Amino acid sequence: MTAEPVTSRPADSPSAMMMAARVHAFGGPDVIRLERVPRPVPGPGEVLVRMAGAAFNPSDVGFRAGLMRDIVPLDLPFTIGSEASGTVVETGDGTERFNVGDRVVGRLDGGGAAAEYFAAPAVGLVGAPSAVPLAHAAAIPVAGLTAWQGLFEHGRLEPGTRILINGAGGGVGMFAVQLARHAGAHVIATAGPRSAGRVRDYGAEQIIDYTRTSPQEALDHPVDLVLNLAAIPAEAAQTLCRGIRPGGALVSITVPVEAPAGADLRTAHFVARDDPAQLAELVALIDAGVVRVDITAARPLAELPAVHRDAEAGRMSGKTVLIP
Ligand SMILES: NC(=O)c1ccc[n+]([C@@H]2O[C@H](COP(=O)([O-])OP(=O)(O)OC[C@H]3O[C@@H](n4cnc5c(N)ncnc54)[C@H](OP(=O)(O)O)[C@@H]3O)[C@@H](O)[C@H]2O)c1
Repeated sequence: MTAEPVTSRPADSPSAMMMAARVHAFGGPDVIRLERVPRPVPGPGEVLVRMAGAAFNPSDVGFRAGLMRDIVPLDLPFTIGSEASGTVVETGDGTERFNVGDRVVGRLDGGGAAAEYFAAPAVGLVGAPSAVPLAHAAAIPVAGLTAWQGLFEHGRLEPGTRILINGAGGGVGMFAVQLARHAGAHVIATAGPRSAGRVRDYGAEQIIDYTRTSPQEALDHPVDLVLNLAAIPAEAAQTLCRGIRPGGALVSITVPVEAPAGADLRTAHFVARDDPAQLAELVALIDAGVVRVDITAARPLAELPAVHRDAEAGRMSGKTVLIP
């Protein structure tokens, strides 16, 4: 691996500027402004990272539009983007975990990923996998941790679990299908025609085309667990309970779902937390060739407003990363 050049300019000099995708007012895609701002200076315990990739997540649309204000308060203006990968170019005081030149990846829960540089606490970052291009590693933290926690913590998946993953065509589904198969589950997945081939490649043993049939009707046997990744109305998600055996469970990462009255089912809804130890385990599985990371599009940072327009129009499938 060739080491990337390290900046020689001190990060707090006036010339240390960078491009960042910032939101000054909540609204449509056009509120995202690409502008020159000072490069962040890493504080104690932080590192400054030159961004190689910043992944797009559907929640970025919510942050931009102001729909997440009650859940995650953000002061305007803010730099959008909650996961990124890159190379450490400077370390703050007391930071021994990483050195200049290290390749890292992590979640940035306060935003800041969609910029040429970001500063982040070193404890929240992990070494990037060497098995995938550094820019592509940006796609791992949010989707990967959500899949991991949905399957193993909330879903209590075990070898032999028969699972239906609803909405497997997206970023979270990519990790969920592979991790469930690796854990010895029997995986049935819903995917539309544009994603079915990828989802089968990830290891799904049966694909149900949700654009043609309802998943619960296409199942020939009940499942133990449904993992709902699709942003569908709660009533539609509740109908998935019809395909679950008594004593089974439905875990949803989008809408909260109540079990139908009298049904012997457990339901759970959660927001995935950052967990660098889990992220490191995921990175190890990627480096071991167990889990692969597919990027369907790598687009310049300057195209972020267009990425948001495409996402809102339903034109995107799989994982998109922004590159500087
Ligand atoms: N709770 C949390 O912590 C958490 C974390 C991450 C994400 N999320 C949320 O979870 C959802 C999935 O995230 P993501 O990153 O995987 O999104 P994504 O990459 O946009 O993928 C969503 C996928 O849902 C599929 N889909 C759409 N309508 C469907 C339907 N009626 N039935 C089945 N599948 C359908 C589409 O698949 P096809 O391509 O096959 O059409 C699409 O690719 C988003 O709403 C996101 O905001 C929540």
